[in-house]
Amino acid sequence: MKIQIADPFAAEPAFLAELAGQAPDLDIAVWPGAVDGDADVLLAWEIPADFPPLPPDLRAVVSFGAGTDRLERDPRIPAGTPIFRLEDGEQAERMADYVLAAAWSQLVGLPQAARNEDRRHWSLSTDQRLSPDQFVVTLLGAGFIGTCVARRLADAGFAVRCWSRNAKQIEGVESHHGPGAIEAAVAGAHLLVNILPLNEDTRGILSAALLRGLHPGAGLVNIGRGEHLDEQGLQGALIEGAVGHAWLDAFPIEPLPADHWMWGHDRISVTPHISGPPSLKGAAASLMKVLQRIA
Ligand SMILES: NC(=O)c1ccc[n+]([C@@H]2O[C@H](COP(=O)([O-])OP(=O)(O)OC[C@H]3O[C@@H](n4cnc5c(N)ncnc54)[C@H](OP(=O)(O)O)[C@@H]3O)[C@@H](O)[C@H]2O)c1
Repeated sequence: MKIQIADPFAAEPAFLAELAGQAPDLDIAVWPGAVDGDADVLLAWEIPADFPPLPPDLRAVVSFGAGTDRLERDPRIPAGTPIFRLEDGEQAERMADYVLAAAWSQLVGLPQAARNEDRRHWSLSTDQRLSPDQFVVTLLGAGFIGTCVARRLADAGFAVRCWSRNAKQIEGVESHHGPGAIEAAVAGAHLLVNILPLNEDTRGILSAALLRGLHPGAGLVNIGRGEHLDEQGLQGALIEGAVGHAWLDAFPIEPLPADHWMWGHDRISVTPHISGPPSLKGAAASLMKVLQRIA
């Protein structure tokens, strides 16, 4: 099978070596150096703007990641061409690490302590700290990655709720499903984590109204897509105190423009799409499974 790679991470020598180890017979062209006009499969997280016209007999496009939204809205992919995604278990675990870091940080009060430190202000809180089982974490999305994150949070002792299209059975996790159930899933939560895919129903779902339903001063983690977040809604929620701190890892425009108001905001941690780095082994193994399906 002939594969065209058009992704900077997939083009890394270490990934190519992993791929060659798992599938020595693959015929691989790596853009920008090489273009295969007969390629069967294109591997890319998004197709670069200056990529040449797609091969006429392309059989499938595979996202070098979990999301396919940037490919789905690309008019250069002919209608009917199947688009697949990778399911990389190690990546899901790394994303759970990110969420756990935010959950413990919010529970312990580290963001507030860091803000006080910036002002050289010594403030002893007299509030009782919650135990993990009193600290409610709501996950929007309970698919391949969300389920892994939910399990890790539940194993760590947090009170976990998830919200998805269909009901889920995940041990130790309270499942809510359907459009009418999102408010109940979010109500009073101490941390809201978004790990939804971007689609027409989920765009802007992190709205001011939704954030107001959280426990006052709650944390927000967005590891889905930047377009899930209503940025003005977040700005208002931070001013009102509905949200105390936000960890944001995905943005509509990446890199986040240098003059964006979020940079340097003392209640926002901007991270450059680092929550879920793909693993060489996991990504290559998942790609192999996709190739077997379409062989
Ligand atoms: N920041 C990063 O580094 C990074 C890395 C990897 C992935 N991501 C993002 O994470 C997203 C999720 O990945 P995944 O592998 O977990 O995806 P997935 O397996 O497709 O799961 C998606 C989940 O979202 C739910 N969902 C989708 N549309 C919904 C709607 N309209 N209402 C309610 N629930 C809805 C699904 O519900 P059902 O199960 O009931 O259908 C499912 O639980 C990706 O699409 C990508 O955008 C980000």
